[in-house]
Amino acid sequence: MPVCASEQPGAVDPADFRSILGRFATGVAVVTTRAPDGEPVGLTVNSFTSVSLEPPLVLFCLDLEAGSLSAFEAASCFAVNILRAGQEAVSNRFADPLAARFADNDIADWSTGAPILADALAALDCTVHARHDGGDHIILVGRVQHLAVLADGEPLIYWRGGYRQLV
Ligand SMILES: Cc1cc2nc3c(=O)[nH]c(=O)nc-3n(C[C@H](O)[C@H](O)[C@H](O)COP(=O)(O)O)c2cc1C
Repeated sequence: MPVCASEQPGAVDPADFRSILGRFATGVAVVTTRAPDGEPVGLTVNSFTSVSLEPPLVLFCLDLEAGSLSAFEAASCFAVNILRAGQEAVSNRFADPLAARFADNDIADWSTGAPILADALAALDCTVHARHDGGDHIILVGRVQHLAVLADGEPLIYWRGGYRQLV
């Protein structure tokens, strides 16, 4: 008798899966890179996670349907911009397919050239360390090259489909 039972197709209802994942509170980040022509590219994610302290590695998961997929596949760097409490509009803009996402943000370049949102809570500038299969997402692992806290304050929180603040 194996310790773990084998796969059971259809055992996970997609709505239940989403609902349960939504109960895991996360921060919100805007991940950015540059397209081959140098144009800034970025989108809102809550799949950002720390991976390793030594070497310093982080990851995020990118939907294979995302418009920015080809830019992130081609790029050798990305930045993670952690949003502050009160930056719901920034989060919404970077999740809106029709928005001019970079129009209202001051952008800085640190070591890799990935765009840093100057008014974020903190940012990590990364070179791409690895790309892994992640089902309908690709897992992008970055090696942190430069990092800084950019503002005092609390993070923007995402929980059960909505923005929250620390009490
Ligand atoms: C709070 C929040 C978290 C999100 N997390 C992710 C994520 O982790 N990965 C992802 O691919 N899309 C995520 N999205 C959706 C993308 O931001 C959205 O689909 C965006 O329009 C994709 O941009 P693109 O098609 O230009 O790449 C999230 C959206 C929001 C509002």
